[in-house]
Amino acid sequence: MSRTVQTFNLASGVKIPWLAWGNGSGEARKVPVQAGLAALKAGIRHIDTAQNYLNEGAAAESVAKSGLSKDEIFVTSKLSGRKADSDPTAEGYTVPVDEVRPAIQESIKKLGFVPDLFLIHNPHVVTRADLKKTWQVLEEMKDAGELKEIGVSNFRPQDLELVLEGAKYKPAVNQIEYHPYTLAHLEPVLAIQAKHGILTESYGPLTPLLRHPTGGPLKPVLTKIAKRVSESNPSLPLPVDEFVILLLWTRAKGVVAVTASGNEKRIKLLAEISYLPEDLLTKEEVQEIMSVGKTVHFRHYSEHMEKDFALPNLPDGTG
Ligand SMILES: NC(=O)c1ccc[n+]([C@@H]2O[C@H](COP(=O)([O-])OP(=O)(O)OC[C@H]3O[C@@H](n4cnc5c(N)ncnc54)[C@H](OP(=O)(O)O)[C@@H]3O)[C@@H](O)[C@H]2O)c1
Repeated sequence: MSRTVQTFNLASGVKIPWLAWGNGSGEARKVPVQAGLAALKAGIRHIDTAQNYLNEGAAAESVAKSGLSKDEIFVTSKLSGRKADSDPTAEGYTVPVDEVRPAIQESIKKLGFVPDLFLIHNPHVVTRADLKKTWQVLEEMKDAGELKEIGVSNFRPQDLELVLEGAKYKPAVNQIEYHPYTLAHLEPVLAIQAKHGILTESYGPLTPLLRHPTGGPLKPVLTKIAKRVSESNPSLPLPVDEFVILLLWTRAKGVVAVTASGNEKRIKLLAEISYLPEDLLTKEEVQEIMSVGKTVHFRHYSEHMEKDFALPNLPDGTG
């Protein structure tokens, strides 16, 4: 099987590996150097970090220890709204626009390189009045060669529209909680992104299996598809379960999966998944996951996307 890293194209033509390992959640956040190194050694080539995770230095350390050239690894970080690393109450700080550039420069200093992609972590890290100006700071830094690709995260339709109006550069990505149970709610966001060539990145892609109390109506569908894929492909290098199917579905939708693990065995599994062939799911299976997913609204990380953005009138799938 090919060990060529499988990628999507950003609008600029820059390639982004379709599966990222993040150091912002679960066990991965607790042992970021060790787990980041395990991810790179296993073959993952995309690390997702952020100012708020306090792990940018750890991401850099795992890159340095991997023995790989930085050019082989795609690294994303984010402007998170954080005053000082030493202050535990510093999260949720609203960054004044004149502090945006120094805050990003601090990220670059911690990383020791310019990240391949830099995001505004959510639209509330600055005041509403400053959101467009903040995007312009990112644009200026890109023009000055201080940043490479720039994008956003947790942006609702009103946030995307605000930064897109008159933008010199459109956001390369919007990193959002994306999985089958958020699809109905995300429809207007995804329509804007399709129109403007903004790639979707999915964080929390495993939520229907990990965080939904029962798995909802999707679980038996994923079980059925996992069985079919395993039986039709007996020589795959890993056991195909519902988690694998959910990640393959994310890729089949053309969406970058930003997942995580602090467990070495599961990290190796994630790396294997990232190299699986593209055509394991049929078009009908991709469609079925989407159709069943759209009958439920369930989100784990609700604080940004569910504020001032109308929810679909759907059950949460627990009944
Ligand atoms: N932009 C944002 O606002 C935002 C918000 C949230 C997250 N993120 C980013 O997205 C990353 C991932 O977020 P997430 O944790 O919500 O993603 P997720 O993919 O939904 O969940 C990851 C969790 O799944 C478990 N896992 C991984 N592979 C598995 C498998 N094959 N079978 C069973 N369990 C498995 C891991 O647990 P173990 O460690 O026990 O293996 C890990 O804690 C974060 O680290 C961060 O970089 C961004």
